[in-house]
Amino acid sequence: MRELKTVLPYFRPYRAPMALGMFLVVLANAFTLVQPYLIKLPIDALTGPAGSDPDAIRGIVVTYAILIVAAAIAGGATRYWMREILNGLSRRIEVDLRNDFVRHLLRLGAGFYSANRTGDLMSLATNDTLAVRQAAGPAVMYTANTVISFVIGLAVMIHISPWLTLAALVPLVALPPLVTWFGKVIHVRFERIQEQFAALSTMVQENLSGVRIVRAYGQEDAQAAEFAALNQGYLQRNMHLAYASGAFHPIMGLLTGAGTVVVLWYGGGQVMAGRIGVGDFVAFSLYLSLLAWPMIALGWVVNLFQRGAASMARLNRIFTIEPEIAAPPAPHRPPGRAAAIEFRDVSFRYPGTDRLVLEDVSFTAEPGRTIAIVGPTASGKSTLVSLIARVYDPTAGDVLLGGVPLPAYDPADIRARIGFAPQDTFLFSARLGRNIALGLPPTAPYDVIKARVRVA
Ligand SMILES: Nc1ncnc2c1ncn2[C@@H]1O[C@H](COP(=O)(O)OP(=O)(O)OP(=O)(O)O)[C@@H](O)[C@H]1O
Ligand SMILES: [Mg+2]
Repeated sequence: MRELKTVLPYFRPYRAPMALGMFLVVLANAFTLVQPYLIKLPIDALTGPAGSDPDAIRGIVVTYAILIVAAAIAGGATRYWMREILNGLSRRIEVDLRNDFVRHLLRLGAGFYSANRTGDLMSLATNDTLAVRQAAGPAVMYTANTVISFVIGLAVMIHISPWLTLAALVPLVALPPLVTWFGKVIHVRFERIQEQFAALSTMVQENLSGVRIVRAYGQEDAQAAEFAALNQGYLQRNMHLAYASGAFHPIMGLLTGAGTVVVLWYGGGQVMAGRIGVGDFVAFSLYLSLLAWPMIALGWVVNLFQRGAASMARLNRIFTIEPEIAAPPAPHRPPGRAAAIEFRDVSFRYPGTDRLVLEDVSFTAEPGRTIAIVGPTASGKSTLVSLIARVYDPTAGDVLLGGVPLPAYDPADIRARIGFAPQDTFLFSARLGRNIALGLPPTAPYDVIKARVRVA
């Protein structure tokens, strides 16, 4: 649950709608919880002396009927508005969170991407941000709703009959341990679903981007079978969760049902003994049934919070990873004119491997000179070039620009000065022109784009 604290800053821009939403929760509950009282009052009146006068009866019934309908309409409208505001707010938080997540991902370097699967990252950006939204929106809303309806409802119930209230609440002592236990079970099962979903999306992503390999080796059926197995596992884990959450509602229903039995039995006795009125008794039963839903919601809310916390923890694991290649606190100004690139005793091994791809490489590329690096396949030519753009930093030695080691510069400054035609091409799903003009503003003049095409 502690993980959810990191969501709090996301609420900050939405403090005003949040406050309005909370006010509407109170208002909606007031309108709902006044209704049993509006039923009790005419019953009290009818069972009193006015009950023998037909005109008075008609007047009372019509008046209260109008009041009850008005309260129901006002309550419904307020509740609608409350959901609009609080759920809308959580969607905006989800958008902000996902933007931050993608912005963070774009800052992370090649090392991060070789250690993390794309499918996992996609499931974080979709499934997990969604779970966080549900904790930030519906879960917060229903918690507030439960607390407020209990405060108002219990106050009125105690006002009607403290003893009856106490009796009706006895079966509810089983509630906290039950909710906690279900919460744990549901949490574990939900985690297993998320894991499976990540595996599933990784499989889809890898098969789509490697579709040519799959075809070339005639692996369509084998891959489809493997996918079907993963998918089946996903179904099973979902069913496993459904068993637990399916049992939860009826058990909560049983508890409230037990409360109702107590009220009928004990409250009925009280009415017969003349200690409480018929109106009180009716209102009391209605209050108890009105409190059933917020109580059931409580269990649901606990597990929304737990899912949200688990998802936020997964997101935070990524958020706390700092890019290994970042600007120093006081970056060196890049040289204004063409400057020499020098490799000084550079050795390099890819992270997570133990073979040196480059070993003690030294050379200087003077401005205006053309240099060709020649070597057999897999001798490290592309690797060497990628060290200039600081895709990676050397394991030993230095790469210098204008006599200054690259880490002293802001990598963005360096990269902005490098033209690079990679061996493996990659096209964004946009028109060719936009691919060529990558990095230029959308309004870049035509001849600038044309100049790029010529360079390419
Ligand atoms: N991301 C990576 N992680 C681990 N090893 C890598 C990675 N990229 C390349 N290598 C390894 O580093 C070595 C050098 O690769 P590199 O691509 O630099 O060679 P190259 O000289 O450009 O080859 P080619 O002529 O095929 O383009 C190879 O053994 C390759 O398998
Ligand atoms: Mg190469």
